[in-house]
Amino acid sequence: MNTVSEQRVLLTRDIPMSDFRSLETISIDSYLSKNGYKALAKALLELKPGDIIEEVKKSGLRGRGGGGFPTGQKWEIVAGATGEEKHVCCNAAEGEQETFKDRCLIRSNPHQLIEGIIIASYAVGAHKSYLYVNENYREEIMLLEKALKEAKEKRYLGEKIMGTDFSLDIHIQKCPDKYVAGEETAMIEVIEGRAAKPWQKPPYYPANRGIYGNPTLVNNTGTLSNIPHIVLKGGDWFSKIGSQRNPGTMLFTLTGDINRPGIYELPLGTTLSKLINHCGNGLKDGRRFKAAFLPGNSPVTESHLEIRLDLESLKEAGSGLGCAAVTVLGDGTCAVGATLKFSRFFMDESCGQCPPCQMGTANMARLLQKIEDGQGKMDNLDAIENMCSLSKGQGYCHLLSGDVFVVEGAIRHFRKEFEAHIHEKKCPLQGSPVNTL
Ligand SMILES: Cc1cc2nc3c(=O)[nH]c(=O)nc-3n(C[C@H](O)[C@H](O)[C@H](O)COP(=O)(O)O)c2cc1C
Ligand code: SF4
Repeated sequence: MNTVSEQRVLLTRDIPMSDFRSLETISIDSYLSKNGYKALAKALLELKPGDIIEEVKKSGLRGRGGGGFPTGQKWEIVAGATGEEKHVCCNAAEGEQETFKDRCLIRSNPHQLIEGIIIASYAVGAHKSYLYVNENYREEIMLLEKALKEAKEKRYLGEKIMGTDFSLDIHIQKCPDKYVAGEETAMIEVIEGRAAKPWQKPPYYPANRGIYGNPTLVNNTGTLSNIPHIVLKGGDWFSKIGSQRNPGTMLFTLTGDINRPGIYELPLGTTLSKLINHCGNGLKDGRRFKAAFLPGNSPVTESHLEIRLDLESLKEAGSGLGCAAVTVLGDGTCAVGATLKFSRFFMDESCGQCPPCQMGTANMARLLQKIEDGQGKMDNLDAIENMCSLSKGQGYCHLLSGDVFVVEGAIRHFRKEFEAHIHEKKCPLQGSPVNTL
């Protein structure tokens, strides 16, 4: 395998959090001088929609929004679906905790993303597509507006793109800064002017029945930003980057007890220890690694330091990659406090339409708070575990299950620490360098 930096596809460099605000945005001229919009020209002038879908399938690209669905397969479903119109919707809601990868992609290279959306729209037959962006990303929305205008002026967007018969309009839709607003059916509700509430599924998935009942391709910002590279360099080229089972790179958002938090693009399959030590410069104050929390999934612990960060390896270890937000805990940071923080987030973000989710997330957070405060009993721990086993898979979307995976996994790995809170009637780490994140 090549070195980490040789295998970047989407970013030109590491982005420590301290550099985020000063991150430069590539201009259209600079993008064009680096093969920008060449993939679009190739797609429109040399390839049929079906050829592009085949290339994306060959690449092995899987969705970067958290679920890891094979991208080419999803495109094929939308292309084959019947409907008066079709749409592509780029998901840049990014309401998950400690995640900034989509923001970073828009900020550094909006044209790469726009080119990806145009190619995806051509491949599935969409003529009106959407950029669904977190309303708090004000600067990024301005950058997108400017880039869309530039693309239109150069005839990469609008009527008869590059002199062909293909026309496309891309509309920016701001979305509420709520985690659940990023769920793909909640997104459709927002676009149609209603509150962000996911649908019960089945029967309808957006690929067959999405925006205004039309087949809709929903893909994450990271997924779509990869498309120009795949079309230009080929699916085979892409499939050789990263891990065989999960090709390409991923933008990891590294936070927590780390010397250099930031956004790091690494080939999928890179080890956790490499992310922490090579990119993050190790743990703060020489602390020892205790765990990494991956929101919506079980945390991983010291025995997993050499685990490969890809969908399959993490799944085999009982965890998951999600949107690749990695929050590191060093010794001295309370695992109960960290679990509580994540659980509270799920409680606050539940849209409340499914009773098991509304009550389950609130009860779990309440009992975890009691334990963290030194007022918990062993019965409370049993009750949390019972709630976890009853709640898994409940609700219209994955939010409740995400909460369960974090809490259940944390208790599995740190049971002694939970019990110590109960027996000692306080957080045993009080007085240590850091008690909560
Ligand atoms: C509660 C919840 C929140 C989600 N938030 C996002 C999000 O912010 N961005 C995103 O791309 N996908 C999010 N997803 C996943 C989307 O529903 C959808 O699967 C994804 O956008 C598909 O894109 P991909 O195939 O390119 O990954 C969320 C899912 C759930 C259940
Ligand atoms: S599971 Fe929770 S967040 Fe998802 S739709 Fe139901 S109440 Fe809303």
